[in-house]
Amino acid sequence: MPRLSQWIIRAALIYLLLGITIGALLLAHKGVALHPILWAWLPAHIEFLLMGWIVQLTLGVAFWILPRYWQQLRRPNEGYAQAAVVLLNVGIWLVVAGTTFRAGAWVLFAGRLAEMAAVLFFAAHAWGRVVSREGA
Ligand code: HEM
Repeated sequence: MPRLSQWIIRAALIYLLLGITIGALLLAHKGVALHPILWAWLPAHIEFLLMGWIVQLTLGVAFWILPRYWQQLRRPNEGYAQAAVVLLNVGIWLVVAGTTFRAGAWVLFAGRLAEMAAVLFFAAHAWGRVVSREGA
């Protein structure tokens, strides 16, 4: 497994831990009131588990497993994949800042923009790896 995938999957596992911990606290809070501020962490729970865990794990495995260039056995445009990971993580924390920490609508918007840019960068990396090379 390439080094980048290892780092992405490690990061995804940390988000899984954070997201499930918040989820467990929220669940417990429904039975026994723990602290009124806990519901503010629901957006962080969602962001960590959907973007931090599911999307990030997908990117990590995709970077590893998609076909590599025919005969060259290297992954093209690795820098785009690295940029995608940075943008995704910056986006996640901006979204959490804009929701849970009430940093403002523009922070939330910037976070979503960063996440969209992450998707575009990863697509730019992966495009050449999913194009048919038959007849090449
Ligand atoms: C991959 C795993 C998970 C994902 C993607 C996920 C995602 C979500 C989403 C999208 C919501 C908002 C639902 C809504 O507003 O209708 C939510 C709410 C919630 N989640 Fe999770 N979740 C996950 C795992 C967990 C786990 C493991 C726990 C508990 C240990 C948990 C506890 C909760 C609680 C208590 C709520 C609030 C429910 C309510 O509004 O009454 N979640 N989750």
